Amino acid sequence: MNSLNAGPVADTLQRLFQQAEQADRGLMVQFAQAESIDQLLSHHLAEERRDLAGVYRGYVDNYLNVTQEYGRFIYQCVRARRATRIVEFGTSMGVSTLHLAAALRDMGGGRLISTELEPSKAARAQANLEAAGLAALVEIRVGDARQTLSDIGGEIDFVLLDGAFSLYLPVLKLLEPHLQSGTPILAENAFDHDNEYLAYVRDPLNGYLSQPLAINEGRGNEFSVFTR
Ligand SMILES: C[S@@+](CC[C@H](N)C(=O)[O-])C[C@H]1O[C@@H](n2cnc3c(N)ncnc32)[C@H](O)[C@@H]1O
Repeated sequence: MNSLNAGPVADTLQRLFQQAEQADRGLMVQFAQAESIDQLLSHHLAEERRDLAGVYRGYVDNYLNVTQEYGRFIYQCVRARRATRIVEFGTSMGVSTLHLAAALRDMGGGRLISTELEPSKAARAQANLEAAGLAALVEIRVGDARQTLSDIGGEIDFVLLDGAFSLYLPVLKLLEPHLQSGTPILAENAFDHDNEYLAYVRDPLNGYLSQPLAINEGRGNEFSVFTR
């Protein structure tokens, strides 16, 4: 079974991709014109840039979602791994969340813990999961990932990092004691420039295999596998 192709999941995703295209059109033009994410964020105070919370507060109505191509890739990876307990950092309106939860449900079930800073976005994601019939598999924790993911209550076999990229390393370190060997970690917007997360996962001494993905090139998609 592949619920991305037909039925309530496919219908909900089709609606969300259309809404996202409208809501984020202006932002995508800005991204395309900026030399780098750093340049785009340079007008924000240095203090804010550390956790980017101020930046995301300005994007409460933006989806900032994964592409259809990347969503399908996430779905494939979850199925290939036969994952049953997933953690996601960065729910937004739930586009990636739907792909993760659909993969779990299509394999018979599982649990997804996702976290979102903005309560209004978390509420919209919850409604979208309900529309897709996937709400029973997902717990959305509202708040800062550094707190909401401090207790995930068991082992994890799949991770999607798609929140504030400046927090990927602290969030990974929170999750690390719970990672099963062989756990894939997909990280969006993990850019090369001065990136402590990439330095960490690419250093073989830390126990990961890691490389950038060609899929959606330019969006800083890193694929890592925990091998300890
Ligand atoms: C790129 S969007 C996520 C897109 C989503 N994965 C999708 O495909 O639809 C990043 C989200 O992370 C949230 N976020 C940023 N910093 C966060 C934090 N410290 N804790 C939890 N969520 C955070 C933002 O509010 C934003 O909605």
